[in-house]
Amino acid sequence: MGVEFEQQPSVELSKVAVSDTHGEDSPYFAGWKAYDEDPYDESRNPSGVIQMGLAENQVSFDLLEEYLEKHSEAASFGNKISSFRENALLQDYHGLQSFRKAMASFMEQIRGGRAKFDPDRVVITAGATAANELVTFILANPGDALLVPTPYYPGFDRDLRWRTGVNIVPVHCDSSNNFQITIQALEAAYADAVSKNIKVRGVLITNPSNPLGATIQRSVLEDILDFVISKNIHLVSDEIYSGSAFFSGEFVSIAEVLEARNYQDSERVHIVYSLSKDLGLPGFRVGTIYSYNDKVVTTARRMSSFTLISSQTQQLLASMLSDKDFTEKYIRINRERLKNRYHMIIDGLRNTGIECLEGNAGLFCWMNLSPLLKERKKESELALWKSILYEVKLNISPGSSCHCSEPGWFRVCFANMTERTLEIALRRIHDFMEIKKENDVQQQ
Ligand SMILES: Cc1ncc(COP(=O)(O)O)c(C=O)c1O
Repeated sequence: MGVEFEQQPSVELSKVAVSDTHGEDSPYFAGWKAYDEDPYDESRNPSGVIQMGLAENQVSFDLLEEYLEKHSEAASFGNKISSFRENALLQDYHGLQSFRKAMASFMEQIRGGRAKFDPDRVVITAGATAANELVTFILANPGDALLVPTPYYPGFDRDLRWRTGVNIVPVHCDSSNNFQITIQALEAAYADAVSKNIKVRGVLITNPSNPLGATIQRSVLEDILDFVISKNIHLVSDEIYSGSAFFSGEFVSIAEVLEARNYQDSERVHIVYSLSKDLGLPGFRVGTIYSYNDKVVTTARRMSSFTLISSQTQQLLASMLSDKDFTEKYIRINRERLKNRYHMIIDGLRNTGIECLEGNAGLFCWMNLSPLLKERKKESELALWKSILYEVKLNISPGSSCHCSEPGWFRVCFANMTERTLEIALRRIHDFMEIKKENDVQQQ
């Protein structure tokens, strides 16, 4: 738009337009801005900011490119003008049947065949961002709340709250049990909402968790499901990182838990998924809501008119995802590469004296810098974050931007860069820690 200053509006705008619940003033987004202004580049800007605040998966692009080279017909219309016309004219919010089938089968494959998905329950959306907002619109009224375990993905402040008018009530989890969700924490958050006269409509979990980089155990999922049943509320499971679990068997989908219970009480369960992380395609904007509730499926489909995926993208992905040789190879190699990256970063950090939460999934690790804090306070965490951003030139996300109640934790992404850049980032952290140690010795 080229507008570099915020105009003072002389005409009134809607509440949504002037609300600050989009959360863009958080350090999570401020870090991105600092990166944009001074991006690291090995030859052109070697002292620039390295972006470790972006949960992007670039480790398996070569596999996607190889597929596209071998199957150029999937991405083009070839000589078939009729195919071009079909795509250009299609405006059906059900989406292409072939795409929904391929997506359902890919979701099954990621879960090692341990869960079944019916293509008729797949609702297509422009990414998980749209899916999470859409499902919130359907489950809750303005002023109602969803319980969300902390630490959580900072984008939820925008996606769940901004346009829907719904509140997030945090379910505080902490390091005493590796940030696992407990019934006590869920009950406390529920009671907190009730005491404020806020109606709780559901619980939204992320499994595997962003920012923890860890899967949720089956017994914990069972507890969460029993909790939502006891309160007669919904459960949304954002499983956008399901394919990133380093070992397929370590990820248990809520779909598997339902299957084991013969789908009893399943009408309160809704799964959000997208290809942004597992296939590394956030730019394609491909997401889905999978609900076991017929009314939610119908309403979500109607609402998806606002946020569809272009038919050309659906056509390409229908071909790619129904090629079982490709998907099997991709899922296996991608998991392996993410696991190796994870070990590279946590070993590198450990060598500098930094510990991370034990992870088994995701594109990030959850790093504990609490020993470096002057005081166990959010202000100290933000002061440390600033010096890492502006002096060490690494953009990492402070735990407070993920609403973590325990200061000193940071999310560090490792899959959006080359191994070489990761080595440079680790070297910078190493040098920073050495200076810290020297300063500590001098002060003693
Ligand atoms: C937990 C979670 N949900 C949703 C999203 C948004 O994903 P998408 O790019 O598919 O909109 C992200 C992106 O980082 C995420 O981490």
